[in-house]
Formats: sequence, C-alpha cells, structure tokens
Amino acid sequence: MASGKIIIAIDGYSSTGKSTFAKLVAKGLGYIYADSGALYRAVTYFAFTNGFIDTEGAIDKDNLQKVLPKIEISFKTNKKGESVTCLNDSNIEKYIRTSKISSNVSRIAELPFVRDFVNVMLRRMGQDKGLVMDGRDIGTAVFPNAELKIFMTATEQVRAMRRFKELQAKGEKDTFESVLEGLKKRDYIDTHRSTDPLTKAKDAIELDNSSMTLEEEIEWINRILLPNFNLQVELR
Ligand code: DC
Repeated sequence: MASGKIIIAIDGYSSTGKSTFAKLVAKGLGYIYADSGALYRAVTYFAFTNGFIDTEGAIDKDNLQKVLPKIEISFKTNKKGESVTCLNDSNIEKYIRTSKISSNVSRIAELPFVRDFVNVMLRRMGQDKGLVMDGRDIGTAVFPNAELKIFMTATEQVRAMRRFKELQAKGEKDTFESVLEGLKKRDYIDTHRSTDPLTKAKDAIELDNSSMTLEEEIEWINRILLPNFNLQVELR
C-alpha cells in the first residue's frame, strides 16, 4: 500500500460538480485545492478589461500574448478562510463567475500560449504534492503522473439544471434552454480544441454523479480509491 502525499487530478465536463467535490476532498485530507479553470477565467477577465476582446468578441491574440507574462494571477485566502482568485493582487473572484466570462472562457482557453502560461503556474502548485486540482487536462497534460485521476461526468440535462440553479441564485436571468445551449457549446470547444482537449486519461477512474449526492461521492472515493493510498477523507 502506497503512503505519503499524492496529487489527485479531477477532470471532467463543466458543471459536473468537480470543484465542490475537489474542495471537500482537499479539506478532508488536509491538502491544497487548486481550481485550474479559475486561471483561464482570470485571463479571460484580464483580456476583456484591457481591450483584448472587442465588442464583436474578436480576440487580439498577438497583443494578449505579449502582455500575458507581465500579469500575475494567484490564489489568496480571504477573511472567511475561502480561497479567492487575484489578478495583480486585486480580488477578482466575483467577476470571473459571470455568464459573460463563462461563455467566452473556452475560446481563451484554447489558445496554446494561454495554456502554456497557465500550466507553468499549475505545475508550480504541485511541487510538494498534497494537492487536489480540478480542470479539463490535469490528468492528461498538467500532471500525467498524478497518483490518482478521476474523470467526472453527468448527463447534459443534469449539468445544465445545476448551472441554471446556480445562476438563478445569483439573480442572473438566463433561461434553462440558453444554459443548456451554452453548456453544449463549451463541451464542444473543450473536447475539440487542438491543444490538450478534454478527454479521459487512460488511467482515470470515471465517476458519473448524475444521481449521486455529494456525501455518496465522498463515500465512493473513501471506499474505492483512497484505501490504496492509505488515505481517507474525514468529513467534519
Ligand atoms: O471549470 P471551469 O468552468 O471554471 O473552467 C472554465 C473554462 O476553462 C472551461 O470552459 C474550460 C477551460 N479549462 C481548460 O481548458 N483546462 C483546464 N484545466 C481548466 C479549465
């Protein structure tokens, strides 16, 4: 039986509940949690607020590539103990979760120079292991040697309903149909881009949580996967 700190890579489609699950697993193991999608969202926010995406949605790739090395994106802990995404030291967490960013982030994330920029930051976070990271290519490209890889799926209808409810809770006006449409578009771009598309790593274990509760997901990882590493998620 293996022991010591490991890297847990959690990949999957949007709105499969990756980050909720990953956060809880990290907390229960005393590991660091890293949301790789937040970095792509932060780059998208930066591109919008600095004029690299015009009103028609066209991306000024050449100039974005030039300035990207000069920006700093980091995760900091706020007063409530939550991890927040910062751009050049300003907390941008609430700006990166809007529908505008969600519907444009896949086009930014498919640019190879953006992926290179983000990957450097992500790999740095894994230097000391003890990390749970979620995303689209963590088990295939960022940490291909991660000790444990999970690929999360759920039906389109279930995922769109989860996203729709999240947006409603935030007071956004999107209809269920528009959320479903947006989700299908993002799935398409995420799985068809030429650099590191979303795909299940050969050695990843699939978790279809269409009809599972979060508690059942934790019970699943504790029973099926973590005993191999002498680890257990403690829910407190
Ligand atoms: O997980 P999320 O919805 O916050 O991710 C935002 C976008 O970033 C998503 O459309 C795909 C992209 N992404 C990616 O290409 N690779 C990752 N490792 C994480 C996210």
